Amino acid sequence: MNGLLAAKSGWGKSWYTQAWTEANVDEYDRLVVLDFKDEYRGLVKSGYAKHFIVGPREAEAFGVEEWMQFLQQNPQVVLCRHGLDEETWREEVADPVAKANRRLAGSSLTVIDEAHFVAPQRGSVPDGVKGLATTGRGEDASSLWVTQRLTEMDETVLAQMMFTILGGFTSSGDLAKVKSIVEYPKDLHNPQAGKVSHSPEELQRVDASGTKAKGGYVPALEKFTDDDGNTVGSEWIYADESGEMERKDTRNVSMESTHFGAQGKQLKSPEGA
Ligand SMILES: Nc1ncnc2c1ncn2[C@@H]1O[C@H](COP(=O)(O)OP(=O)(O)OP(=O)(O)O)[C@@H](O)[C@H]1O
Ligand SMILES: [Mg+2]
Repeated sequence: MNGLLAAKSGWGKSWYTQAWTEANVDEYDRLVVLDFKDEYRGLVKSGYAKHFIVGPREAEAFGVEEWMQFLQQNPQVVLCRHGLDEETWREEVADPVAKANRRLAGSSLTVIDEAHFVAPQRGSVPDGVKGLATTGRGEDASSLWVTQRLTEMDETVLAQMMFTILGGFTSSGDLAKVKSIVEYPKDLHNPQAGKVSHSPEELQRVDASGTKAKGGYVPALEKFTDDDGNTVGSEWIYADESGEMERKDTRNVSMESTHFGAQGKQLKSPEGA
């Protein structure tokens, strides 16, 4: 099964992806996290995976054979990018890892954060990466593609997704892309849109008491912060090929491992608050 998790920068993609990973790791014989920004080591601390730092030396020395051996010895692993540019990460790491994973027997889950660098719209997508995305139904290789740049992701890869988990977007280019993916008003994904008419009732927000609001308008997805400006959760819409749709709020999600994402520094105005 192939899924896409996308939202604007800072929405909480990597956090939610880690929660998805944690929830699914036991279902697969192997797990590979292609950790572009070194954020998933919490999975290592909690015992879900080994940590392997992939620098120029490893990228050079490891081909498909070596990765096969490596994955046999380390079936659950977070591969952390260290000092490699996007192209090397794509061509010399993601590609042979994906090929190795497919050649080995058993099931696998591959998580690809910053997936627009691994399957870019401009330039070529390596065979192994393409193969991972186009893996037929019924095969045991699942993948989760994570990006904040929908418009920069390869079309053939995007077209293979069997489910999508989409959060908030503010740029008109991204929202236009969202429109081409979803079957409800795209403005639900625009946190600045307020209430959106003509939205399916099933995407209505569920309040703290567990009841769904009534009425024809559905609030656009929101991101939630505490008093210090830290993100404490965000809303998403899950949709799959069967037509199932669900509004999700990650304030209701708990995971065991810690996520080491960067909050991003605030800028305060010199006049003071
Ligand atoms: N449900 C949540 N509970 C607690 N913290 C959260 C939650 N969701 C997101 N965060 C925090 O918000 C910050 C931003 O999240 P994250 O790094 O996942 O964003 P992102 O969408 O992957 O951003 P980028 O596009 O920069 O990669 C992180 O510090 C993360 O730990
Ligand atoms: Mg991220």
